[in-house]
Amino acid sequence: MKILIIGAGGREHALAWRIKQSPLVTHVFCAPGNGGISQDVTNVALGSQEDLVKFCKKEAIDFVVIGPETPLVDGLTDTLNANNIAVFGPSAKAAQLEGSKGFTKNLCRKYNIPTAAYECFDEMDLALDYIKKKGAPIVIKADGLAAGKGVVVAMTEAEALAAVREIMGGKFGSAGATVVIEEFMEGEEVSFFALTDGTEAIEFGSAQDHKRVGDGDTGPNTGGMGTYAPAPIMSDALRKRVMDEIILPTVNAMATEKMPFKGVLFAGLMITKTGPKLIEYNVRFGDPETQSLMMRLESDLVPALLACARGGLKKVEIKFKKEAALCVVMAAKGYPGDYKKGSIIKGLDKASMLANVKIFHAGTEMKDGNIIATGGRVLGVTALGATIKDAQALAYKAVDSIDWPEGFCRRDIGSKVI
Ligand code: AMP
Ligand code: GLY
Repeated sequence: MKILIIGAGGREHALAWRIKQSPLVTHVFCAPGNGGISQDVTNVALGSQEDLVKFCKKEAIDFVVIGPETPLVDGLTDTLNANNIAVFGPSAKAAQLEGSKGFTKNLCRKYNIPTAAYECFDEMDLALDYIKKKGAPIVIKADGLAAGKGVVVAMTEAEALAAVREIMGGKFGSAGATVVIEEFMEGEEVSFFALTDGTEAIEFGSAQDHKRVGDGDTGPNTGGMGTYAPAPIMSDALRKRVMDEIILPTVNAMATEKMPFKGVLFAGLMITKTGPKLIEYNVRFGDPETQSLMMRLESDLVPALLACARGGLKKVEIKFKKEAALCVVMAAKGYPGDYKKGSIIKGLDKASMLANVKIFHAGTEMKDGNIIATGGRVLGVTALGATIKDAQALAYKAVDSIDWPEGFCRRDIGSKVI
């Protein structure tokens, strides 16, 4: 079977690495891929949706796995399906679960799925009045996709008012034409994954991310600076509650609304005093959660992804290793602000030789035999260990054998739970 993966990040590298190990697979392509992905599978150029259809037909691709949210929201699944190409990833309609925060909040309200209390506004004056009535802390979100930067957790009323003015004033273009204003929830955050074929859903592990750029959760938010898996807080009882109260009601609701969700539901959860509540849905795998998940995955990934597209997920059994995984993201100095591109990363061979370590690439390119940094988040140094503490020690050992003066990482990934 020939598989094409869409994307260029650490998540796609982790998926490519796992997919390539499947005995069902003869060849894996990735469009556009990156410098590390090209060492594991074949990179190809990423063109328009029509170009991708042509490529799939020419190469007789059996299955396309879409990594990021943007092509999903833009309907790549629908285009490929219309050309009889099987796809892992939801339709554009179902991808609204990530593409529109208002859509998801309204679905939660209609189907009683636990989430923060909220209101949606498309008029600035009404939004400002609502904040003055509710007070702080309060959370302001741009409705549409804003590259993970459209959320302001405001600890004061002034901050909240400023956030509304900024978002509705056009900072994120049309993605901020509507804002969602919601109750501030307190608790521990967990990334929870479930695969679904539109009818059935099965758990697919948990992880915890580190969103702030600096040690001790300081500094601005990023795409994610490191993860570990599984999340220790997710007891069997809590996992069952999440499936029963959040995931399965969502899968059923989407089917009832005639937009069945097929793919991975990535629930950002807040574990509050009264139980798990949904912060948001993503309609794709997490980055850098996937790096840790794939490190722990024991089962063949391909039959599970195929079953999401074709149905029959209930018969698929997913097994994770009992070990813990931990991923440390190495980023270019300056990230998430301005950073330089083009520096050479050395020592990757030495770091890769460590047993139970895999280095997933994000913003890299292979040039004249060197790996060059070309992005903000550049590497995901991932290790497997008997405990999170062991995985942490091994991951930092690998980090320390990488020679890249222009890069940095957090030194405390996983420390909070150790
Ligand atoms: P989101 O993009 O919706 O995941 O929001 C980004 C981050 O803002 C989340 O990871 C949380 O840390 C935080 N956040 C979002 N909504 C809330 C909320 N209602 N209460 C507290 N924190 C929140
Ligand atoms: N790590 C968070 C995300 O993938 O959205």
